[in-house]
Amino acid sequence: MRPTGRPDPERSAESADIEVVRAAAREFLELFHGESPRAERLGPRIAAVMREIELTGTYWHTAEELAFGARVAWRNNARCIGRLYWRSLQVRDLRTVSGAGDVAGSCFDHLQVAHNGGKIRPMISVFAPETPARPAPRIWNEQLVRYAGYEQPDGRVLGDPRYRTFTSELVQRGWQPPDVPGAFDVLPLVVETVEEGPQMFQLPRQAVHEVPLEHPELAWFAELGLRWHAVPVISNNRLVIGGVSYPAAPFNGWYMGTEIGARNLGDSDRYALVPEIAEQMGLDTSDEATLWRDRALVELNRAVLHSFTANGVSITDHHTESRRFLIHLEREERAGRRCPADWTWIVPPLSGSQTPVFHRYYTAETQLPNYLTDPDATHRSLQGGPPAFP
Ligand code: ARG
Repeated sequence: MRPTGRPDPERSAESADIEVVRAAAREFLELFHGESPRAERLGPRIAAVMREIELTGTYWHTAEELAFGARVAWRNNARCIGRLYWRSLQVRDLRTVSGAGDVAGSCFDHLQVAHNGGKIRPMISVFAPETPARPAPRIWNEQLVRYAGYEQPDGRVLGDPRYRTFTSELVQRGWQPPDVPGAFDVLPLVVETVEEGPQMFQLPRQAVHEVPLEHPELAWFAELGLRWHAVPVISNNRLVIGGVSYPAAPFNGWYMGTEIGARNLGDSDRYALVPEIAEQMGLDTSDEATLWRDRALVELNRAVLHSFTANGVSITDHHTESRRFLIHLEREERAGRRCPADWTWIVPPLSGSQTPVFHRYYTAETQLPNYLTDPDATHRSLQGGPPAFP
């Protein structure tokens, strides 16, 4: 027995955790009730949640609390320029789904339903939460659809260099790339549970919607064989609502063109296509001052916007989205709320100063609920491990 008067360090750490959960739950329930005229009475709900936390160390959100929490997590995410539509997020309550195969299957459904024939629906699938009784499943991939990066003997990478290590780790784990590897091979989904360990699942064809890229005027552009997936579903963030964590909660909006045209295809450590496009355009690349990089980047971005639109897939340009974001800020201010925003993420990577979001400052303090990027989850999504449950 432990001498009285000295608290068991393990037990007191645990009760400190419980205190944190209690305080976070109370704060969230007050927020929910403050913003939801039709919610049940606050007092009894708080009392019931406190009892549940006492007994189990956690609590089960009502479906309404979960939907509100997921939407407000979007509203609070300082990195997102697209938050004007935060109320429209569709929430799939999949909290009873926790096996690796079932999580993967539901993710593939998510891709279909969110794509919606091209009219993309902002959507989140919330899988089993983290509880003291059982840790939540983890999705290793950064997004549900990501392209493999194959390191070539000459050190160059075929595909997306961002996932070169992730790809080689999955190959080590037994993933078989296509017979003829290409620049846009969809990686398998890795779902890890405490019982099953990491499991790999090939995405079914009908879950992966892609847009082949062409340029409205430059006929040779289509010959480059470029493409990109239609729906960006971030799958390694942890949704945190009122002291409850949902590490497996993939969510999507629709793309802003620059994400693909300026970053994924443009960055020198990604597909790095600017020099090739400039060459094809016949620009003078011997002198930076010709601004050949800028001119090629603009045409690449036009191709992305044009192709998505021509294929009937939702996409938005950075000028429109910047204006919408300022409308959002104004609305939030009028509602008496602070809207955290991170300038370095909000300002578009192309023609920043031509957009109104460039010319001002923002407050950036973290507010909950939110989507958090945990360092270990980031590591898994790029390095392909180590497992969450070794
Ligand atoms: N930037 C990421 C990508 O290019 C997607 C991030 C989420 N973007 C969005 N529009 N919801 O894949």
